[in-house]
This record gives sequence, structure tokens and C-alpha cells, in this order.
Amino acid sequence: MERSKRGVKLISSGSATAPQVLHNDDLSKIMDTSDEWIATRTGIRKRHVANNISLSELASQAGIKAIANARLTPLDIDLIILATSTPDDLFGSASKVQDLIGANNAVAFDLTAACSGFVFALITASQFIRNGVYQNVLIIGADCLSRWVDWSDRTTCVLFGDGAGAIVCQGSETEDNLLGFEMCSNGQLNSHLNLAYQGEIRNISENKQVNQGKFSYVTMNGREVYRFAVTKVPEVIEKALYRANLTVDQIDWLILHQANQRIMDAVAEKLNISREKIVSNVSEYGNTSAASIPLALAEVVTQGKINNGDIIVTAGFGAGLTWGSAIVRWGK
Ligand code: ACO
Repeated sequence: MERSKRGVKLISSGSATAPQVLHNDDLSKIMDTSDEWIATRTGIRKRHVANNISLSELASQAGIKAIANARLTPLDIDLIILATSTPDDLFGSASKVQDLIGANNAVAFDLTAACSGFVFALITASQFIRNGVYQNVLIIGADCLSRWVDWSDRTTCVLFGDGAGAIVCQGSETEDNLLGFEMCSNGQLNSHLNLAYQGEIRNISENKQVNQGKFSYVTMNGREVYRFAVTKVPEVIEKALYRANLTVDQIDWLILHQANQRIMDAVAEKLNISREKIVSNVSEYGNTSAASIPLALAEVVTQGKINNGDIIVTAGFGAGLTWGSAIVRWGK
């Protein structure tokens, strides 16, 4: 087959979470909230929160497991894409992850698209594989939003958790298992969800100034994000299904960004997908941003629920605002 006709296989997964667990009842001791409120509105019961583990460490733990599950060695990896909005270093954490994994033959870079990051990274990686440049690609979604939420703001801090998930994609001469995709962004809605830089003008000489500051906390208009998600996610999935030439009844699993159980249920209902096909672990981990889809995927793969050949609909949505869907066939 010509180089340009190569396809993509999604061959393995892995995940990692911080050991420290924060239950809803722990939060109700430090702010005016309750397990009942959080669980009813979001489906979240607890989340893992990093204290003495870095984003790069979490990401590399997930990556190492995915590589081992692919029966490859770190030296087989050609490219690492780290989807994150919470790197250890603003210059990017992918190279650090490359080093921690020992993937010395790979090139590594960060990709920032908030909670859509994993889906965007999977689609990006697939282009490198399809055009024949790289054979084995490690895609990691990892976030530690606990660093950036205001722990006195009950409207945001109860929602998020920390984690990492990874998959290995491989070039194939015979199959292309990224069956269809669609990616979107709309900067007009940017103000609904931010982790914004806040700077101040500082004089550095008589007539020259710079702007220096720090990043503020996560701010979110929850109702608008909810409305956006339940409208745009079904639409983008329908477009991706159309590109894949598939109908809803051919889907085996729906793995959405794990932001809120109500959003997952509403999307499934709009698409007429039965609830048994929804993969959800939001009750255990909360919203882990770019990590949530590969974390959920790795869990059901480990449990043996997903079989080779199963068709999975993934969809991410979040800050930007960004959203996207990738329809994939799982396995070697
Ligand atoms: N505990 C108790 N009460 C609370 C809490 C809390 N943790 N948070 C808010 N409330 C109160 C509010 O103050 C408000 O009180 P009031 O009526 O006296 O003013 C009341 O509960 C209702 O608040 P709403 O914001 O209207 O609650 P809503 O039903 O919209 O649920 C939620 C909020 C869960 C955030 C919902 O809007 C949502 O899920 N939105 C989508 C958010 C999302 O998915 N974000 C992530 C996507 S992007 C990314 O992942 C980075």
C-alpha cells in the first residue's frame, strides 16, 4: 500500500490517578455544599487530587502502562502528544514526560485544547500516522485542575479532579480505525470558561513597560457551558458519524468527556443511544479535563468490557470553547 494510504489502529491504553481521594463529604466540611447537591447535579461522588505528584509524573505513569499494554518498549515510540492545560511548565511538559518514560527516539509536544484536548490530540496524531511520518504514537491526556480552582468557590472546585490517561496508536497497512471525526471551536463563547492570565503594567525603565502577572482561578458560567454541551455535542457526533458512514445503532460505546452525568445522559438521549452504552466514571474521578476520556477508556478496557472491533464514539468539549468527536474502532 502507498504511504499515503496508511491507516491508524488504537492498540492499547493506560491510566494513572493521584492516590489522594477527596469525597464530597470532605468538601462539605470546608464549604457550604453537600454530597446530595453535588451527586444530584453532577453525578460526582469523589475525585483524586494530586498533592505530591506532578502532572508530568501522572502523565508518564499512564504512558508507561499504555506502552507496556501495547507490548512495545519506550524506544519504539516515535511521537508523544501530551494534551494538557495544566503543564508543570508553561513552555510545555511533553519533553519532560518523554524523558520520564525513556522514549528517547520520540519527538514530544504539548497540545492545549482544554477538555477537548484528548480528542484533538488523537485526530492530530492520526494525521502523522496516515501520512506515513510516524508509526507508533503515544497520546496522553493529563490534567491537574486542582492547582487552578479556587478552593473556596463551591461552584467550581467540587467539579474537578486530577488524572491522566493514554493510548498508543499505530500505523497499519490494512485498516484505518479512525472512522470519522469533526472538530470545532468558537472564540465568541470564550468568556464562559477561563483560566486566564492576569497581568499588571510594570515600568522597567523611564518609558518602557512590560506586563507581568500570574494565572487566575478557573471561572465558569456553568449554565451556559451546560447549554452549550447538550446542544453542540450531539451535533458534532452526528457529523462525525456521517463522515464515518455509520448510524447510531452501529455504536457499541459512547465515551464522552466526563464533566457531568446529566450532560452524558442528555447527549445519549438526544442521539437515541441506550444508557447501557454510556461509559461513565465521573462519580469516581470528577471532571479530569483532557484526561477524562482516556481514563474512562482505559478503565473499561482493563475490565474487559471493550472488545477488539468495538465501535466507540468519543466526544470532548470545554474551554475555548472547543468541542469535537472522533469515531474509532478499538483494538489491534
Ligand atoms: N453546593 C451547593 N450549592 C451550590 C453549589 C455547590 N457546590 N454550587 C452552586 N450552588 C448553588 C448556587 O449558588 C445556586 O444557588 P442560588 O439558587 O441560591 O443562587 C444553586 O446552587 C443553583 O446553581 P446553578 O449554577 O444554577 O446550578 P446548576 O443546576 O446549573 O448546576 C453545574 C451547576 C453543575 C455547574 C451545571 O451548570 C453544570 O454541570 N454545567 C456544566 C459545567 C461543565 O460541564 N463544565 C465543564 C466543561 S469544560 C471543562 O471540563 C473544563
